[in-house]
Amino acid sequence: MDKFVVSGGRALDGEVAISGAKNAALPMLAASLLSAEPLRLSNLPELRDVQTMRRLLEMLGAEVRAEASGRICASLAAPKSLSAPYDLVRTMRASILVLGPLLGRFGRADVSLPGGCAIGARPVDIHVDALRSMGAEVKIRGGHISARSKGLRGARIDLPLPTVTGTENVMMAAALADGDTVIENAAREPEVRDLAGCLNAMGARISGAGGSKITISGVRRLHGAEREILPDRIEAGTYLVAGAMTGGRVALRFSGELALGEVAAALRKAGAKVRFGEGFAELDMAGRRPRSVNLATAPWPGFPTDMQAQFTALNAIASGHALVRESVFEQRFMHVAELKRMGADIEPLGREVLIRGVRQLQAAPVMATDLRASASLVLAALVAEGETVIHRVYHMDRGYERIEQKFSALGAEIRRV
Ligand code: UD1
Repeated sequence: MDKFVVSGGRALDGEVAISGAKNAALPMLAASLLSAEPLRLSNLPELRDVQTMRRLLEMLGAEVRAEASGRICASLAAPKSLSAPYDLVRTMRASILVLGPLLGRFGRADVSLPGGCAIGARPVDIHVDALRSMGAEVKIRGGHISARSKGLRGARIDLPLPTVTGTENVMMAAALADGDTVIENAAREPEVRDLAGCLNAMGARISGAGGSKITISGVRRLHGAEREILPDRIEAGTYLVAGAMTGGRVALRFSGELALGEVAAALRKAGAKVRFGEGFAELDMAGRRPRSVNLATAPWPGFPTDMQAQFTALNAIASGHALVRESVFEQRFMHVAELKRMGADIEPLGREVLIRGVRQLQAAPVMATDLRASASLVLAALVAEGETVIHRVYHMDRGYERIEQKFSALGAEIRRV
């Protein structure tokens, strides 16, 4: 299993290009199941999760062709199977995204239950209830979701929580349903809006995505389309935090100032100069130590839970004390125990942690537990004294494209062994 060896202590200085967003790429790939005609996606990141989704589509009978670097073409003329097996679902929860499109188009889908994972229980009850209210018969047996319908009907769906993939599943199922579906308390994340744009390019009639009320007027069929995936705001945020922690300067080829709203605000509170321009973002810390920032995660437009671990690492070496609250997931502090092994002073207080910044972290062998927790360990290693070995970096490969090459381009000393 691959490891990263990181020598800490260098201020980052350089420029990197930000890849397409994982969380937009995965639902768009799933959307290709809605049409027999090709969906062409560009700016597709090369990630393990993208490969997993591709394997899943192929297993279902889709034709998937890589046309060039970062370009893929997918279509499903006739399904080979309508089930997503446990082997794939357990490696990637987002496999649940095939449930809506398969049920909407073919009236049938069997998807293994994702079950628990490293960041809490993460149930899919809201997805299931929403599809039931559209007339689907859904049984859950033997670790399996089995959904059937003789034609979904539009419905009014009030989500108890603004679940991201839940909203996306309903949008995809409703695109081919009979009549209008209205989703209240919908997730408002930029990736949800990007998926709606992709579905509309395929002939769907969706309005309001990006807001909390989305209306989908069902159509009889969807056609092929071309779409560019939006840039990854979490990848961008991770490199900016790395710049801030090392007292360095990081320039990103990235367009998406609005998508970084709360993250940029938190970086400025930490003392960084953050600037956006046409197609770029730049952070300059000018050799200073960051100041602590209190934060609480929340659904968009709040502070993203996918940036919480990285800011926990920043606070670990900042001047002052910070409270970081995780409000989206029940257990998302797996990185805390590992950061403490490196000398961080972090006190867990239920869904909150109190972080007392220390001047210096020390290298230690640590273990990645989930995607964003792994990112926080790399960030901590970049400022630690000595050589940190990070085990199980396959978690990072799920969501960061060529991470060691990008960090090396910024002047970090990081190797994969
Ligand atoms: C998506 C993102 C993930 C991000 C998360 C929150 C993708 C592929 N993944 O995950 O990177 O961290 O949004 O921004 O886009 N919940 C239920 N029942 C459900 C569904 C969700 O109780 O049926 C709860 C979850 O346990 C969690 C909260 O709702 O506490 C939000 O989760 P959700 O938005 O669904 O996350 P994902 O869509 O899985």
